[in-house]
Amino acid sequence: MNTFPTSRQVERLIAGQATSDGAGVKLTRVLTQDLQRRLDPFLMLDAFGSDDPNDYIAGFPDHPHRGFETVTYMIAGRMRHRDSAGHEGLLEGGAVQWMTAGRGVIHSEIPQQTDGVMEGFQLWLNLPASDKMSAPWYRDFRAEELPRFVTEQGVTVIVIAGESQGVSGAVTRAASAPLYLDLHLPAGSQFAQALPLQHNAFVYVYRGEVHIAGQAVPAQRMALLTNEGAADGVLIEASADARVLLLAGQPLGEPIAQYGPFVMNTQQEIHQAIQDFRDGTIGE
Ligand code: FE2
Repeated sequence: MNTFPTSRQVERLIAGQATSDGAGVKLTRVLTQDLQRRLDPFLMLDAFGSDDPNDYIAGFPDHPHRGFETVTYMIAGRMRHRDSAGHEGLLEGGAVQWMTAGRGVIHSEIPQQTDGVMEGFQLWLNLPASDKMSAPWYRDFRAEELPRFVTEQGVTVIVIAGESQGVSGAVTRAASAPLYLDLHLPAGSQFAQALPLQHNAFVYVYRGEVHIAGQAVPAQRMALLTNEGAADGVLIEASADARVLLLAGQPLGEPIAQYGPFVMNTQQEIHQAIQDFRDGTIGE
């Protein structure tokens, strides 16, 4: 396997904030708005997970988006998606939905189950200014359609976006160059990933525990990784059986103006988005 002379360090551990969204879905906002600049091009990461249907059953009824991409990764459960661009899909365990809102969509995300566990993640990835008003785009990937490989140490690597050890992910993007890996690490295993130093990167542990450069990262914690020194990647060591999201991306370095589900570059563009939503021209 690859090893790196210097792994990135953990800059800080972040617990996230319990909140609710949509029609009362309980979730943990792992990547909050105050981290958008530090983790450019990523805008948000929500983790939802419950075996109580009251926590998720109402789902996310019709709501708009403009100016960025949403990436939904279902670990368990089923969610139906419909949007104003005519896309419809059923997300089941292990599936990914990648939606580029571009100039705007109105969509709904509704659980298709009345009991059992619902677990997953939604990531918001910013678009460069030049693509914010592009046509909406959408694609579902079933679990078996996602590129994956197993390392010599038995680490399963699911490549949702970007590239890992020569395996290209389901989606690639030129401007933000996102890397999105789901790693299933047996206790005692290690996984090394090359990362350009200027790319912002973080790890979210959703099962077990890992160590990065000697720092323990327990379950339900995000580890924000440093961009300093001579590190050419990150080395993740599993101190127990662990499941981990590893994300990295190239900063866009552009102004971020957010109002709820609209993420643009200026307040003027936000006012325009609100006006377009009121006028009914978003999602037309
Ligand atoms: Fe949404």
